[in-house]
Amino acid sequence: MRSCPGGGLRRWRRVSSYVIEPLDPERYEVVEEYEVTPYAKVVIARDRLSGAYKYFVVEEPLTKGERRLVREVMDRIKYLAVKSETCDIEGLVKSELRKLVKDRRKRGKLLYYIRRDYLGYGPIHVMMLDPNLEDVSCNGVGIPIYVWHRKYESIETNVVMTDVDYLKSYIRSLAARCGKHISSAFPVLDATLPEGYRLAATLEDVSSRGPTFTVRKFRERPFTIIELIMGRVIDPLIAAFFWVMIENKRTFMIFGATGSGKTTLLNALLTFVHPSMKVCTVEETREINIPTKNWVPFVTRETYAVGERIGEVSLYDLVKVTLRYRPDYIIVGEVRGAEAYVLFQAMQSGHGGISTIHAESLESMINRLLNPPMNIPPQLIPTLNFAIHISRVKVGGKVARRVLSVWEIHSADSFRKLAEWDPVEDAFIHYLSSSEILARVASQLGLGKEALWEEIENRARLLEYLASERVVEYGEIVKWVYSYYSDPEGTLRRVGMRARPALAVRAAKLREEVRRVLSGREEVKSVPKPRSKERAMRVKEQIFSKLKVKR
Ligand SMILES: Nc1ncnc2c1ncn2[C@@H]1O[C@H](COP(=O)(O)OP(=O)(O)OP(=O)(O)O)[C@@H](O)[C@H]1O
Ligand SMILES: [Mg+2]
Repeated sequence: MRSCPGGGLRRWRRVSSYVIEPLDPERYEVVEEYEVTPYAKVVIARDRLSGAYKYFVVEEPLTKGERRLVREVMDRIKYLAVKSETCDIEGLVKSELRKLVKDRRKRGKLLYYIRRDYLGYGPIHVMMLDPNLEDVSCNGVGIPIYVWHRKYESIETNVVMTDVDYLKSYIRSLAARCGKHISSAFPVLDATLPEGYRLAATLEDVSSRGPTFTVRKFRERPFTIIELIMGRVIDPLIAAFFWVMIENKRTFMIFGATGSGKTTLLNALLTFVHPSMKVCTVEETREINIPTKNWVPFVTRETYAVGERIGEVSLYDLVKVTLRYRPDYIIVGEVRGAEAYVLFQAMQSGHGGISTIHAESLESMINRLLNPPMNIPPQLIPTLNFAIHISRVKVGGKVARRVLSVWEIHSADSFRKLAEWDPVEDAFIHYLSSSEILARVASQLGLGKEALWEEIENRARLLEYLASERVVEYGEIVKWVYSYYSDPEGTLRRVGMRARPALAVRAAKLREEVRRVLSGREEVKSVPKPRSKERAMRVKEQIFSKLKVKR
């Protein structure tokens, strides 16, 4: 079946350059089907011979008359769009369709095709709408488009790009949607689509099987920390441990394979950033989100100057710039090159640092850090406090994500395992309380290690409660976290729990407040001040007596 009505994104209309293979029931056995829109469904079928799964896009076909109508409406729209002041093309389409077509269902079907071919993603439109897909990849001309399905993993689809010129123009239109450019002079593209999806594309100058593209689809609403806890990706105790570590500006990296969920976990953990912290993020494509207002997001820029790097702003440049902003935390979406070196230097000079890195094991992560192009000197490695390994795994035959292990880094060749996932029980085994950094943080706060551990347990109980109550909405979770920051005991009371060592922790918080007030740091504005001068002086005395500071 040739695709119809052909093009999309304007120029496609004249070409019919992809095919959608019909489902042949003799060859394929249907395993599952689901509707993506009332006019298109997805059928997962198994090849009776090879046993391989295949992803079929099945659309309600247009009749000849309907195809004509689509063209008619779009011709009118082109004229109206020029005349009209509005940019609401879909609104114009709907109003034209209402004038021309009385039957509601038929109107809906025509609207689907117009969306698909003129406003949407043409050959991959259904895949872009399908929430079960994580990646959509075109590996060249004459090769089926592949998808990464949450249930069936990497499978072939029945959509094949058949014309190299069409594929090139399709990729150029994708680039234009991202406000970017791809051409023979600049045949590699890394960009963000308007929906926030990550797009990577190449032209045949660098990919021998023809132009290629791959779209990483993120969930419309990213997974929150509570959803990750509910999905058993991480458990409340590990999450609470990192909550305390983030509050205390510790550094960590999340490592794992491509698509293992590193960025998702990073985003979820960043919910714990204290509202008074100043954060700078550096990324190639915008993926990170942080609740705090004191946040400066930086994104790299490519250059289009031939043979020169004029105008290019790299991760390295941006990480260097962040230091001027005096951030509490520098977060780099993913380290790959020389920017890692600047990040480690920043961490050594007292900035918090978090990043993700592509590595399959702790050893390979350390190797990547020590070797070119990152070139981190071994003596800087311990400035990284923790490493979290996340992976796709099979649990009960189904694909899932799990934090496989959490490590504390002591030096380039000495680590301590703080937690690990037990695949048999699908549960986490903890050694978190043995953390040396935990003991260090406790002593910096003027607390015993046990008191800080109990604080972690309090927070774990709160997270457990939120998971049991299915509080999955990002804004709601942030409210709870902020509420805990401002009034830990009250927050625990609200959920029917009693804080264990809350007094000690609150005292630590007061000490921190006074330290900030006395040292006149700029973040003071967002930290509640002690209510009276006498109280401030009293707490100050307590602190100095404990810290044995000479005055
Ligand atoms: N716990 C999860 N459950 C289900 N889907 C998940 C989970 N975590 C991540 N995903 C999905 O997996 C895909 C990849 O996730 P993510 O981008 O976080 O991986 P990554 O390790 O950062 O990948 P990359 O190495 O390409 O940057 C996304 O579509 C995301 O929505
Ligand atoms: Mg990532």
